[in-house]
Amino acid sequence: MSKLELAPSEALYPVPVVLVSCQAQDTANIITIAWCGVVCSKPPILSISIRPSRYSHKIISQAGDFVINIPSQDLLKEVDLCGVVSGRDKDKFELCKLTKIGSSVVHSPMLKECPVNIECKLINTLNLGTHDMFMGMVVKVHADESVLDEEGNMDYSKAGPIVYNRGEYWSLGKKIGQHGFSVK
Ligand SMILES: Cc1cc2nc3c(=O)[nH]c(=O)nc-3n(C[C@H](O)[C@H](O)[C@H](O)COP(=O)(O)O)c2cc1C
Repeated sequence: MSKLELAPSEALYPVPVVLVSCQAQDTANIITIAWCGVVCSKPPILSISIRPSRYSHKIISQAGDFVINIPSQDLLKEVDLCGVVSGRDKDKFELCKLTKIGSSVVHSPMLKECPVNIECKLINTLNLGTHDMFMGMVVKVHADESVLDEEGNMDYSKAGPIVYNRGEYWSLGKKIGQHGFSVK
């Protein structure tokens, strides 16, 4: 292989795209997030990174919680809209016809139309540069029956998740292996 050196950049693609819902007092909002990830398994902790200029940044900081909703591909237009329109200017629940439903533990609402909703309590905020990383302890997970397998485990291939590939939206490809297959 012949490799060229490129300037440092975030460079890690593809990544999942999620809709994060949040609410502080009466102000609720939705933001599209691609900079999200798993940072710990036990306890389960997820991260989302948000620019301080986003309306959602203030809401999540005040609320102390948020919900990560996994959208299916049929919500692609809504995902894009929530990522180009600010809640400062428009009510994105109305604009996208997305429905708030009460969470079990946190104050922020979940999105009814997303098959998986992950309730998170904000446990730490790291100021990193362009983005602040919000670390959320998972306190409850909700999954629609349609995305569960026969044993009741989550089967994300059934959820039709959206993948973000440097400015483009992609779908999940086909299964090509199983964890640990190399030593079986
Ligand atoms: C696919 C996609 C992914 C995005 N990922 C992020 C992200 O990880 N962090 C961020 O701060 N903004 C991200 N954005 C931009 C925000 O979603 C966008 O600025 C949004 O309008 C902010 O909404 P708000 O002002 O209501 O919070 C993304 C946008 C798109 C379309």
